[in-house]
Amino acid sequence: MMRNVKMLYDTQQKTLFETRNPEQEYLELINKEYNFQDAIEILDKIDWDFQDFRTQYLTHTFHSYPARFIPQIPLSFIKLFTKENETVLDPMCGCGTTLVEAFLNNRNSIGNDFNPLATLITKVKTTLINEDEFRYFNKKLAVMKRYLDLDYRRVDERINNLPNRKVSKIFNRVVISKLESIRETLLDVKEEGHNDLFDLGGVALSSTIWSLVENGNGIDVDDMFLKKVKSMQNDLNKMAKIIKTIPGVRVICGDARKLDVKNDSIDLIVTSPPYVNALDYYRAHMYNMLWLGMDFDLFRKHEIGGHSHFIINRFRLLSEYLGDVLRSMIEMNRVLRKDKLCIIVVGNSSLEYELIESHKFFAEMGKKIGFKPIKTIFRNIDKTRKYTSADIGKIDDEYILVMQKVDDTNISAEDDNFVSDVVREQMLGFREQIKKCQGTSIRSRKPTNERLLKNVDKISEAIETISKDTKIKR
Ligand SMILES: C[S@@+](CC[C@H](N)C(=O)[O-])C[C@H]1O[C@@H](n2cnc3c(N)ncnc32)[C@H](O)[C@@H]1O
Repeated sequence: MMRNVKMLYDTQQKTLFETRNPEQEYLELINKEYNFQDAIEILDKIDWDFQDFRTQYLTHTFHSYPARFIPQIPLSFIKLFTKENETVLDPMCGCGTTLVEAFLNNRNSIGNDFNPLATLITKVKTTLINEDEFRYFNKKLAVMKRYLDLDYRRVDERINNLPNRKVSKIFNRVVISKLESIRETLLDVKEEGHNDLFDLGGVALSSTIWSLVENGNGIDVDDMFLKKVKSMQNDLNKMAKIIKTIPGVRVICGDARKLDVKNDSIDLIVTSPPYVNALDYYRAHMYNMLWLGMDFDLFRKHEIGGHSHFIINRFRLLSEYLGDVLRSMIEMNRVLRKDKLCIIVVGNSSLEYELIESHKFFAEMGKKIGFKPIKTIFRNIDKTRKYTSADIGKIDDEYILVMQKVDDTNISAEDDNFVSDVVREQMLGFREQIKKCQGTSIRSRKPTNERLLKNVDKISEAIETISKDTKIKR
């Protein structure tokens, strides 16, 4: 394992191997120094499919997260377009893939996400904890295990003490009792002033709950949790050995449409917004958040790309989504230094049998706010790790949009008129496209032509309500 870790991060790696493999060749390529133009050309030399590359190493293994990107995407841009001590931002950082790569490569980083679970995971993945702290924690957990309370008479009391009683419906009484013992131990740890361990334990507990929700009840939750903590400890220790100096990390739980970041302070943005109509993150994480006592109402209200509304006309979701992403892009332009790169990773979606090529909308909107699209890289997603959604089917490819900030935008992300004008233009172009050809995204049963033709009317209706649909919900 240590050897693998070295393989990734030792720049002197050439000497360690007799034969070169694609992973080594890739690392050699991105580890060289280039000027800006040459670095742009190097992008064409990378095989972005990264087939068979290791994507789960060190703290990337801490917690699964829907639609995260592979570490090689941020790593490539961080290496090619920033220097040590410069600052990388991911305004919708999810589980912190960009920040972990920045951390490992001595770049300062800022991560922002509205999902409190996302920011907790990101913080824990980029916080080293020393051996003494772990010794204290292991003792505490050993005591918990020894006296693990399986007194079911207390379960009802515990269920009543849970942040939300709904939780009890998906777990049996043994599991609830054990999870509560873990939670109480963590609260003790916090009380005793060990905040980083409390956060680490929260991520381990959340990861255990995630496995339970995915795989059904498993009464060995205490062992699952303890194993998780052990493997997290090992990964953090390995990370500590690799890192020469600890770069700055700032994690913000906030809205990407109103970033708490200074103007012109960022050297690179690598991010991936939610897909339109793909997945409600708050739903995916509801049980974890409930158990950790997190309030997800605010996130549910302001989540970009959520799809549990506009049921009658799904194209209204598209205008709302484009408005939200445009506001986030205006903020990205504001905080990015001039001439620096903004990388947005996104896949295609589907709405009412029509293909939504989000990256094309983003590139067009970017041009209105001081970004110059430089190139769009297409990549296949590893077939074995396809991310599936009930609404859009399998997502098997994604696009990496590379834009350069060429101008400061004078527009504010709160300018409702500007946002609705830009979205209207995009939606009018989309309607023209659909007038010429409908059913662009049919993956399964083809609906009737009559049904498909209705899409043009639906888009027209959605255009009528753009001003309302693109307003930020207060
Ligand atoms: C595709 S995921 C990002 C995954 C990330 N690249 C990773 O590797 O983990 C999109 C993220 O956008 C976040 N998000 C949704 N609405 C947001 C908002 N209004 N402000 C900030 N983040 C938001 C979601 O919580 C989710 O974590």
